[in-house]
Amino acid sequence: MPSLRTQIAGFSFDNCLMNAAGVACMTVEELEEVRQSAAGSFVTKTATLEARAGNPEPRYRDVPLGSINSMGLPNQGIDYYLDYLLSLQESQPERTFFLSLVGMSPDETHTLLKKVQNSGFKGITELNLSCPNVPGKPQIAYDFETTERILGEAFGYFDKPLGIKLPPYFDIVHFDQAAEVFNRHPLKFVNCVNSIGNGMYIEDESVVIRPKNGFGGIGGEYIKPTALANVHAFYQRLNPSIQIIGTGGVYTGRDAFEHILCGASMVQIGTALHQQGVEVFERVSLGLKAIMAKKGYEKLEDFKGKLKYLG
Ligand code: DHB
Repeated sequence: MPSLRTQIAGFSFDNCLMNAAGVACMTVEELEEVRQSAAGSFVTKTATLEARAGNPEPRYRDVPLGSINSMGLPNQGIDYYLDYLLSLQESQPERTFFLSLVGMSPDETHTLLKKVQNSGFKGITELNLSCPNVPGKPQIAYDFETTERILGEAFGYFDKPLGIKLPPYFDIVHFDQAAEVFNRHPLKFVNCVNSIGNGMYIEDESVVIRPKNGFGGIGGEYIKPTALANVHAFYQRLNPSIQIIGTGGVYTGRDAFEHILCGASMVQIGTALHQQGVEVFERVSLGLKAIMAKKGYEKLEDFKGKLKYLG
């Protein structure tokens, strides 16, 4: 039987699949569902210092080839997620979970990271540099100078396992420049990709979500080619000590297989999880294991990053 076991930042996970931040992770009830599913871990909704209501509804829509959202960072505030993670550390110390966060300003981001640093949290922190949906706030990771400054300052005091969630990049020069920044810091992983920011979906003569006159982050089938390219671009460029988490367009075992082939050590499911519920983890696991069995692969290392080129 092929194994889907993997490691991130030295922690082991029985299954390489988990939710993508933003889906099934706002409340303890949702997180408990993911925890009790076939998923190997979960990540909590990106947290700010204070709870936020987010943008007006409707702010998420499933559409035939994926999804569009402009949630606006609704979340329960960092303490809610940290308290839950600390309680899980007591009840299930053998498992590791991810905490996602970002501040509404660089100062707030540092306040959040210091809070985590000074807490008893022993899991993995994901700093979200790629929220596209707060009016007036550009995505941090599209600004390499700001990214460099935030990471440089953060690693001055933060010594727990830290990775970053990235937006998709679309130019080879941007892959090069971004990788140069990331390689200067002791990151444990980069997570490629967040939604393709500020797309639009139209029905009859109208947009389908209220915030930002219909502009929203695109997920699902639309984004798999972009996600795979970003996973592989960073797999090629980053120090081997920086692992890749692959996110974007995963509905099937074949999709997860392709992310791992491109170099992903862990694979996250967003839109398909929203559409299908936590059974998606079992379905994708079975599909991925079937592909591995057919090819004679016993573990992810047998094909991770081994994408073939045409000469
Ligand atoms: C939201 C969306 C994102 O893609 C993200 O990374 C963080 C927050 C949101 O709109 O809530």
